[in-house]
Amino acid sequence: MLTRRSLAQFGIAAAAARLLPEMAYAQRAAVNVADLPKDMVWLNANENPAGPPPVSLAAMQQVLPTSGRYHYQEFRDIYATIARSEELAPEQIVTGCGSSEVLHTSVETFTSATRPLISVAPAYEGPIELARILGRPVILTKLREDYTADVHKLAEEADKAHGGLIYVCNPNNPTAAITTAKEIDWLVANLPANTTLLVDEAYIHFGESPDLKTALPYVRQGKDVIVTRTYSKIYGMAGLRVGFAAARPDIIERLTPLRMNVISIVSARAVTAALGDQQNILRERRTALARTRRELCAWLRERNVKFIEPHANFMMIDVGRNSREFGTAMPRLGVAVGRAFPPLDNLLRVTIGTDQEMAKFREVFWKVYKT
Ligand SMILES: Cc1ncc(COP(=O)(O)O)c(C=O)c1O
Repeated sequence: MLTRRSLAQFGIAAAAARLLPEMAYAQRAAVNVADLPKDMVWLNANENPAGPPPVSLAAMQQVLPTSGRYHYQEFRDIYATIARSEELAPEQIVTGCGSSEVLHTSVETFTSATRPLISVAPAYEGPIELARILGRPVILTKLREDYTADVHKLAEEADKAHGGLIYVCNPNNPTAAITTAKEIDWLVANLPANTTLLVDEAYIHFGESPDLKTALPYVRQGKDVIVTRTYSKIYGMAGLRVGFAAARPDIIERLTPLRMNVISIVSARAVTAALGDQQNILRERRTALARTRRELCAWLRERNVKFIEPHANFMMIDVGRNSREFGTAMPRLGVAVGRAFPPLDNLLRVTIGTDQEMAKFREVFWKVYKT
C-alpha cells in the first residue's frame, strides 16, 4: 500500500509532501460509516454552512465563461485588493490554494534538518505532518491546564534548538482556545535568534474576546512573523481554495517561488467580490455564529457537560469517555463530528452548524451521551 511513510522511505519525500494536504483532508473528513444517511449533518471539518456570500456567487457566475484563460494580467490588482483589505502592501502577501499552500511553503522554507518546527499538542496537524514528512524535527509542547499554549515553553524550545519555526494556531484547532494578545506580544518580543513565528489565523474572525488580536501589526512592523489567513472559514469558501500569507517583503520573496501558480480566477473573483463588502459580511457572520455557539454552550452548561470555552466556529466537548467511540456512534445516527485528537482523549470536536443542524446535533449527542 502506498503510505506517506513508505514514500518517505523510498526517498521521495517531496512527492509525498505534495500529496499530503489532500490526504490529510481526506483523513480528516473520513467518517467510517458504510451507508451514510442521506440527510447527514456534517459537523466534522469546521466548514461554514453559509457558503460563499451572494456577491461572490454572482461574481463567479460572471467569470465562468472566460475561465478558459489564466487571467494573469488581473492578478496584480487581485493581490493589491487582498493586501489592501488588511492594510498591507502587495509585496507583503502571497496567495495560495487555501492557507494550506502558504503554511506548506512556510514550513518548507523556515524549517530544516537542524531547524525544528515547534508547536503545541494538539494543534492543526497540516504543518506538523508536513514537517515530519520532510524529515524536519518537530517539537510539540504540552498545553497548559486551561488548554492554552505556553508561549514561554515555545520560546524556550526554540532557544534550545538554536532557532526554529514556532507555529501558533490562534484560535487553536482543535481546542478553539486562544493565545492572548499579551502572550503573542511577549513571544514576538522574546523570539530567540534564528526563529520565525508562524501565526495561523484561519479562525480569528469568529472570536469575540478582547484578548484575541491579529498578529498582522507585527508584519507591518517588520518582525520575524508570518500570519496566514484563509477564505475557507468565515467567508464560506473552503472548496474555492484561497488563502494568503502576510509577512515582511523579504520573507514573502522567499515563499513566493515555492507556490504553485496563480490561484483560480473563479475563486479570486469570489474573494474580491466579498472584500467589497468585507465589514458587513464579517459582522453578520460572526454575530450569527456567536449566537448559535452561545446557545450550544448554554445547553451544555444546563446539563453539566464540560467544554473548552470556544473562540472559533467549533468547540471541544468533554464526553466523559473516549471520544473516538463517541465520534463513531454519532454518524450512525446522522451527525458527523470531528475525529479524535490525542492526547485530549475525552474531548469531542464539533463544528457549529446552522440552528437546524445544531438541533439535530443536540438530539443525537444526548442520545449517545446517555447510553
Ligand atoms: C487551523 C487551520 N489552518 C489552516 C487550515 C487549512 O485550510 P485551507 O487550506 O482551506 O485554508 C485549516 C483547515 O481546516 C485549519 O483548521
